Amino acid sequence: MEGNLFDLSGQTAAISGATRGIGRSMALALAEAGADVALLQRSPAQTALKAEIEALGRKCVIIPCDMDDLEQVKDAVPQVVQQLGKLDILVNNAGIQRRSPSLDFSEADWDDVLRVNLKTVWILCQQAGRHMVPRGSGKIINTASLLSFQGGFTVPAYAAAKGGVAQLTKALSNEWAKHGVNVNAIVPGYIATEMNEALMNDPVRSVQIIDRIPAGRWGNPDDMKGAVVFLASAASNYIHGHLLAVDGGWLSR
Ligand SMILES: NC(=O)c1ccc[n+]([C@@H]2O[C@H](COP(=O)([O-])OP(=O)(O)OC[C@H]3O[C@@H](n4cnc5c(N)ncnc54)[C@H](OP(=O)(O)O)[C@@H]3O)[C@@H](O)[C@H]2O)c1
Repeated sequence: MEGNLFDLSGQTAAISGATRGIGRSMALALAEAGADVALLQRSPAQTALKAEIEALGRKCVIIPCDMDDLEQVKDAVPQVVQQLGKLDILVNNAGIQRRSPSLDFSEADWDDVLRVNLKTVWILCQQAGRHMVPRGSGKIINTASLLSFQGGFTVPAYAAAKGGVAQLTKALSNEWAKHGVNVNAIVPGYIATEMNEALMNDPVRSVQIIDRIPAGRWGNPDDMKGAVVFLASAASNYIHGHLLAVDGGWLSR
């Protein structure tokens, strides 16, 4: 194969939850690699990232998509296709966390986490698949978690949802690989974002976590850049249904 395997020039990517944290870094990585980007976000007023992407010379549109509004979620991929002409890469990244001992965990928290972290991932994957499968190409990258493999403590809904994301990734990959659509997932380790503020501020648990990470540090959102470009690019064309850990070695321990 000639040329840069990781070049995304001429590709159109959509990513959810890029207003901050991991999603922001991944959106920038896709744009830096050459892709035009649609930002699926609940607040259209947040335009700083759009400006950064446009400053790189890429097109960028904001698609209103509150993961609590399933009608908006169902309309997101058609909106991307309408505004940017096609969809080559979908990154499902938006996610939430709710912590509480399981004996007290509320039904409302369960429903919120399962909706944002799993149901909307399914809807966006299905919508993207309906666009990509007939075209014979596409890259779908879901955001799984260490809790796709481990149960964690006091985060039962999150563990259930991220376990579901891993299995959904494999299920869709099995159906769509032969149509040229790659469905894979990134497994971030412990990454320093707002989602983990409580853990990072806990002097005991934050040290315990670092002690268990072979790399000896928390990850940062930019650590996800290489993995997302890899899974979005021709470099990963024969990789299907894979869960790519970017975790400083946590899962190997
Ligand atoms: N940080 C980690 O250690 C870690 C580890 C494993 C997996 N992950 C996963 O990585 C992904 C990103 O996590 P992060 O740490 O970057 O989290 P974060 O900093 O808390 O950012 C979460 C993102 O999701 C968006 N979001 C949340 N609820 C939404 C909704 N109802 N509608 C639309 N967007 C919504 C947020 O948008 P707003 O700005 O509008 O709130 C924000 O852009 C998540 O799926 C998370 O589960 C994170």
